[in-house]
Amino acid sequence: MLQSMSISGGVPLNGEVTVSGSKNLALPSLAASLLTDSPLTLRNVPRLSDIDSMLDLLSYLGTRIEKSENNSISMVTPDIKATDAPYDFVRKMRASILVLGPLIARCRRASVSLPGGCAIGARGVNLHISALEQMGADIVIDNGYIKASAPKGLFGCDIHFPISTVTGTENILMAASLAKGTTRIINAAMEPEVTALADLLILMGAKIEGHGGSIITIEGTDSLNGADFAIMPDRIETGTYAIAASVTNGNLILKNCIYDHLSQFFDTLRLAGIESKIISKTPDGLDNIEVHRSERDDRIRPVDVLTAPYPGFATDLQAQFMTLMTICNGTSSITENIFENRFMHVPELSRLGANISIHGKTAVVTGVRNLIGTQVMATDLRASVSLVLAGLMARGETIVNRLYHIDRGYENIDQKLLSCNARIERFTV
Ligand code: EPZ
Repeated sequence: MLQSMSISGGVPLNGEVTVSGSKNLALPSLAASLLTDSPLTLRNVPRLSDIDSMLDLLSYLGTRIEKSENNSISMVTPDIKATDAPYDFVRKMRASILVLGPLIARCRRASVSLPGGCAIGARGVNLHISALEQMGADIVIDNGYIKASAPKGLFGCDIHFPISTVTGTENILMAASLAKGTTRIINAAMEPEVTALADLLILMGAKIEGHGGSIITIEGTDSLNGADFAIMPDRIETGTYAIAASVTNGNLILKNCIYDHLSQFFDTLRLAGIESKIISKTPDGLDNIEVHRSERDDRIRPVDVLTAPYPGFATDLQAQFMTLMTICNGTSSITENIFENRFMHVPELSRLGANISIHGKTAVVTGVRNLIGTQVMATDLRASVSLVLAGLMARGETIVNRLYHIDRGYENIDQKLLSCNARIERFTV
């Protein structure tokens, strides 16, 4: 059954939102459970459909899973029961590709369905494959599956990624942890989720240096232990709610965040006339951040952005930022440099009255006074939330259809918005 959300816009959001654990750290961390036969416990794991999809796949592969009430998940994989990741699992959640490296490292073979494309682009995995081949895996693509075998195990070597790839770096980090010898990943992704995964692997006994920078060195070990690890806050969720405060001219306290993961983003918001500051710390040393519009301007100021690998402007915040720019006092250009088709939200925002024209990789947004609510269609995870943000700001009622996209990446979004005065109602169509 499909679900939609009805949103009555124009209400400033005021109150507190507690940010959940990072989806894009939880997914590779779950896959890391395949690397050891010892228990791995992950805390602060967000309750999302993508997490459930990964757990279903791990259970199929042989991982025993125990969920607790407080968002902790304990896993143990005494032995791998299956080394294949069938298409049905992978097509639902493309991050399933993250089991490829661990399976080859642990069992010396794997058969993982090619993920196929998605709404935002081709999403190739050729860089994952070529890196594993350089480490000694024999890989053929057969009938839509990546069939890999490494009878002698994997061997460390220098891996040069021509472009920054987040899950590509994560797959090789995990594979290299159990390889023979030293691996250097050159032009490694520097996203906080990659760095935190390396921290988890080190906690499990891996020997890794340089993570957070563009060259990561991994000294392979024979085996890894279990660990007890807390998933860090989701920086994309944090940025999304910062924009929710901005577009509704409200004031939100975002709790349990890491400001430093979004310093460039908050600087960009400041240029647009949005103030954000750390107002307190949690007992765990996380940041509570207050976000609101500055008194100086009565309208949002136009700002140009170009998406880039971390620490550049996150592609996962591009759609949300575009919603903010639809009501700016001028013209903003937004260039998407990471994915080739990540403007699916543009025609839907235009239905709400936004004035946006696309020129190749750049969307030119000319601000209007306000959007007008109507029916719109979600197409992918971040586009769906950009439409909810638009509905919160638009005059009248907005209906966002195909809400399943949003439930992949935003834990308890209904409750979090309702607790800040949003007038929303989810219904089944
Ligand atoms: C990760 O995807 C994130 N997903 C994405 O978040 C995020 O948008 C992306 O990184 C960029 O930051 C997870 O971490 C689960 P890439 P990933 O490999 O790893 C091309 C969200 O909304 N490429 O860094 O798949 C690729 O097509 C999701 O939470 C190849 O061509 O992204 C893209 O154009 C969406 N061949 C670019 O590189 C490869 O082998 C960067 O992709 C690998 C990548």
